[in-house]
Amino acid sequence: MASTAARPSVVPEKDLESFQAHLSKSTRIIALLGAGVSASSGLPTFRGAGGLWRTHAAQQLATPEAFARDPGLVWQFYNYRRHMALNVKPNPAHYALAELARKKEGFITLSQNVDGLSPRAGHPASSLKLLHGSLFDVKCSDFFCKYTEVDNYTDPIVPALAIPTTSDGDEIDPTTNSARQARDLDISDENVDLPELDLAHLPHCPTCKTGLLRPGVVWFGEALPVNVMDDIEEWIEKSKTIDLIMVIGTSARVYPAAAYVDQAREKGARVAVINMDKNDIPASGVYKRDWFFEGDAAKIVPELFKSVIGDITEIPDAADRG
Ligand code: APR
Repeated sequence: MASTAARPSVVPEKDLESFQAHLSKSTRIIALLGAGVSASSGLPTFRGAGGLWRTHAAQQLATPEAFARDPGLVWQFYNYRRHMALNVKPNPAHYALAELARKKEGFITLSQNVDGLSPRAGHPASSLKLLHGSLFDVKCSDFFCKYTEVDNYTDPIVPALAIPTTSDGDEIDPTTNSARQARDLDISDENVDLPELDLAHLPHCPTCKTGLLRPGVVWFGEALPVNVMDDIEEWIEKSKTIDLIMVIGTSARVYPAAAYVDQAREKGARVAVINMDKNDIPASGVYKRDWFFEGDAAKIVPELFKSVIGDITEIPDAADRG
């Protein structure tokens, strides 16, 4: 149980008051999440520092074409991201959002993140919409095979994708200290050799046997999951008015996710942007009746929600394998 003794506020008092007053009386609320929410957990964002994986921009590897061209490289990228996500923890922003979902019935979280940290923070699934899928779902890449698997946390997903460590290749007894202290080599660094991969050693579909499995994420050029889009459309249609949309840790440049800001505004929503970079605002801007909170989402979000959720309690992390 994390005690949160009175810390100096990270939010200007006046803005905090007006925001909390609005939040308390709001009944229809949306949170749109981006990679910045997980930055404090230790995961790189896409367009910030660390957005390059080896010599590739994440976007270059996140396409069906890249997978068709070099499934081994794309799987090394996604296995690395699974490994990283499994070795970090949800942060107070993830927990605060989960708690707000328990406290406010008319609250929904639309997450662009595929890292699994919101589910691990116990965010109720009924009010969490994963727009871009999850690193921990896989599906057959064969067009005619409909095999899918959810919540696959196997790390590495196949032995051939194991992240090389500092002790690889050394004839050492695995029970010794040096073996235990072996560290992962940082394969996001282009100077670190990637292990050779044979297509036969990549994850294959257990149903059609021939198709390669692919990560269950939405790649550039692909449509978002229809059931998720339908659920959100229905939630918005059912809302006579929307009181608030919070745009948290996202550059809000990728559509259709970014379009939810204007859809909410059309239903009367005030906008609250929480972002490290004051230039990263939604395309339609931030008006006088809106808020911009500059800084770390992991610090700001729990503060903003305090009047509704109190001091957040961190529940055991679903993926805790201790
Ligand atoms: N707290 C709040 N905001 C932060 C923090 C932090 N600790 N760290 C970074 N940010 C902000 C950055 O200023 C930036 O505006 O988070 C945003 C991250 O933006 P992107 O890297 O563009 O990530 P995102 O908006 O999630 O990208 C959208 O694009 O690449 C695709 O599918 C991918 O879901 C992703 C989508």
